[in-house]
Amino acid sequence: MSVIRLASLPDLAALSELRRELWPEIDLEENVRELTAILRGEKIGTLPLLIFVAGTEDGTLLGFIEVGLRSHADGCDKRMPVGYVEGWLVREDQRRQGIGGQLLAAAEEWARSQGCLEMASDAVIENEISQRAHKALGFEVVDRCVNYRKAL
Ligand SMILES: CC(C)(COP(=O)(O)OP(=O)(O)OC[C@H]1O[C@@H](n2cnc3c(N)ncnc32)[C@H](O)[C@@H]1OP(=O)(O)O)[C@@H](O)C(=O)NCCC(=O)NCCS
Repeated sequence: MSVIRLASLPDLAALSELRRELWPEIDLEENVRELTAILRGEKIGTLPLLIFVAGTEDGTLLGFIEVGLRSHADGCDKRMPVGYVEGWLVREDQRRQGIGGQLLAAAEEWARSQGCLEMASDAVIENEISQRAHKALGFEVVDRCVNYRKAL
């Protein structure tokens, strides 16, 4: 049985491991610095960002969702901020038990409490599981895009 709660500083070590699982390219020091700031409630940028975790009663972390506000998001009403899923991961051996859905519900509840009427998110094209989970949990696709770069 997992418990969904707001992450706090004692979660730093376990949460930084989960974050690296989701974003392996993230620099170790940068990960800890950014995470410490989020867990202390400091703003990263101008809008709020927070993390909900799923944990067992003995404190083991099973997953997390990072949720913030964005001033606008593709496909959403541009006149008001939206809740945005910035990161979402459930430990591989704990998936398909509803934990991802419970984390998302907590993120949505928080976004509602901030006055949001919409929630937005993204997934890379290759991540079919994420797309299936988004669809199953009520998201609709609004756009598919290709990102480019060019050295100047
Ligand atoms: C996306 C993720 C967080 C979902 O977590 P989860 O705990 O497995 O999600 P849930 O158990 O709440 O699943 C909700 C629904 O999504 C769908 N779904 C989830 N995983 C699926 C899979 N592997 N295949 C098909 N459908 C899937 C199902 O409809 C599922 O409901 P069901 O199990 O009753 O059929 C998890 O797969 C994960 O951590 N993936 C790796 C990281 C990642 O890609 N994050 C998203 C970045 S955009």
